[in-house]
Amino acid sequence: MAKVGLMCGREFSFPPAFIARVNELGKKEGVTAGFVKLGGTKMGEPAEYRVIVDRISHEVEYYRGYLKHAVLEGTYVINNPFWWTADDKYFNYSVASKLGIAIPKTVLLPQKGYPADVDINSESLRNLTYPIDWDGLLDYVGRPAILKPFSGGGWKHVYKVHNKEELLEAYDKTSPYPMTLQEFIDFGQYVRCFTFGKTDILPVAYDPKERKYLVEHSYLSKELGARVVKDAQTINLALGYEMNTIEFAVKDGVPYAIDFLNPAPDFERDRITEFYFEHVVEKMARLVIDRALNGNVANTWPRWEEMLGVGAAAGFTGAPRAAQAAGSAPSGSTKR
Ligand SMILES: Nc1ncnc2c1ncn2[C@@H]1O[C@H](COP(=O)(O)OP(=O)(O)O)[C@@H](O)[C@H]1O
Ligand SMILES: [Mg+2]
Repeated sequence: MAKVGLMCGREFSFPPAFIARVNELGKKEGVTAGFVKLGGTKMGEPAEYRVIVDRISHEVEYYRGYLKHAVLEGTYVINNPFWWTADDKYFNYSVASKLGIAIPKTVLLPQKGYPADVDINSESLRNLTYPIDWDGLLDYVGRPAILKPFSGGGWKHVYKVHNKEELLEAYDKTSPYPMTLQEFIDFGQYVRCFTFGKTDILPVAYDPKERKYLVEHSYLSKELGARVVKDAQTINLALGYEMNTIEFAVKDGVPYAIDFLNPAPDFERDRITEFYFEHVVEKMARLVIDRALNGNVANTWPRWEEMLGVGAAAGFTGAPRAAQAAGSAPSGSTKR
């Protein structure tokens, strides 16, 4: 028997449909599904679940702590709780850009507000320069621009600003969140890709004004569709996500990746349409059954270091890449 556990919050259509589908499709192979139930986690407690699908630990910190423990005990968690904790959208933009994906020009900004014990007039913030060169930053990303959080979602604190005055007015409302300032992409098409596993990608036409998924199978040309799928695969392989939506804004035939840190994507029937809901339930059920039978925990790790030849992939020597390429150990480092 292999158990699949689901963790979720205020979702109503996906959870029962998903659990029923796993139980139905997994019957022959002995895979069953149900809600994870927790009431205090003891160290070393053996993993009850072979796979857990996590759709809520960004809201409930205890769950995140439990999920890390579950990984340690051998559970395959979708999505990887360690990486989700470490990740942010600005880092993602930078990784994706280095991997050749079209990314709007983006600046990471110092946050507007701080906890009460941080004294903004003394040494607490000695590493910040003041005043910020707002004109220079706007010149870099262009006008209009988008101001939005470097993490989070749900369209909260997303502002379109046309000049410095509007930017500062919006920025003043964003305490305590670190924000990004981003080039505005005046898109003609917008695509949201459901992803099941890192490389099974389903691009869907999306209307951001109405915030609605559209069932339009020939929305993208063949070439554009192929590029969107390839870019979405690259992003998921780099960041390790297996349940995600990846959003692209298309301008002049180029798909710009706008939002791809959605590790608990909206799966509610009313919002994603009956057509895609059925698809999502089936694909998610098949994904977890496969992982329950064949999953290797190492597969949930992001691969950006290896793909870019940095960090651990560079051997943890701390050597500048140029020095490593030349084969010379930097002074002060230990020969291995
Ligand atoms: N750089 C951009 N250019 C044009 N529109 C954008 C840009 N960034 C965000 N948007 C618009 O704002 C919406 C919300 O931004 P997004 O980055 O997806 O954040 P969230 O995580 O809140 O969904 C997007 O769906 C898109 O319509
Ligand atoms: Mg979004």
